[in-house]
Amino acid sequence: MSVLDGKTVAEKIQVELGTEIEKLKGEGGIVPGLTVIMAGDDPASRAYVNSKSKLAEKMGIRSKLVKLPETTTAEEVIQTVEAANSDPLVHAILVQMPLPRHIDHWKILDRILPEKDVDCFHPTNQGLILQNRSRIFPCTPCGVMKILDHYGLDPAGLNAVVAGRSFLVGKPMAAMLSNRNATVTLCHSRTVNLEGILREADLIVAAVGKPAFITAEMVKPGAILIDVGINRIDKEEDFANFCPPSRYEVFKKKGYLLIGDIHFQAFAKAGHYTPVPGGVGPLTVTMLMSNTVELCKRSISVTRDA
Ligand code: GUN
Repeated sequence: MSVLDGKTVAEKIQVELGTEIEKLKGEGGIVPGLTVIMAGDDPASRAYVNSKSKLAEKMGIRSKLVKLPETTTAEEVIQTVEAANSDPLVHAILVQMPLPRHIDHWKILDRILPEKDVDCFHPTNQGLILQNRSRIFPCTPCGVMKILDHYGLDPAGLNAVVAGRSFLVGKPMAAMLSNRNATVTLCHSRTVNLEGILREADLIVAAVGKPAFITAEMVKPGAILIDVGINRIDKEEDFANFCPPSRYEVFKKKGYLLIGDIHFQAFAKAGHYTPVPGGVGPLTVTMLMSNTVELCKRSISVTRDA
């Protein structure tokens, strides 16, 4: 059983990215620009958005955060998107999900210019992923692929099960694994015999958003376990169920526990697994920076070729 250390992979990518950013600045004084739009004040979104701004600053990417109130209208969000669309200093736009419930997120995401769509959520970009001809990918599934590649874990021929079919993670993940020649099953809340399907998997990507949802009994010995979930457990009486006894005191002191969608006991059965925290999380935000740089470079080549 070996740990797939996302922090190490993320740091390696950040070093390579740093060189590219320096080159862009040196060549033409070009600074990659990212605009993040957040509506409402969801605590998890706030934490994600802060970590994005912090890493952008560290990497020398020009990032701007536009915060809109929970009561904002779809029209206001669209206006903010349009302003970023027409700003030549902005190469990448991210609208943080979830949006307030009264806003149809597709109405917003459809308005981001495909060439500035850093998440690849625009239908054009999702189509390119399905057709296996996209050069950038949604940040979280892209981070998963980077971890697999770094550790030499080739998905080709594997029986891969993706649990969770969100457009953020599960759906693009399934397409990307299929593009890499895995045999993919995409499961969801209506899947019949989920446990049986998981038990056959050589590779599980868990993205259901339910703490410790996948337990040791559902995992085949030697499987690769990729845990995309980040769930916060605040009740101390739950700590013992959700964390190894050796770490109980650490979390008790901290007052809360961050865990994924896979129960820690499953890791003992795994061939390889990503921890939470320190697995996929560091890659997600790193791939956001990488996509921003890629979109920036592409905008230059488009201008040059015009
Ligand atoms: N909310 C949670 N994950 C993501 C993501 O990858 N992109 C966006 N835009 N919102 C998110």
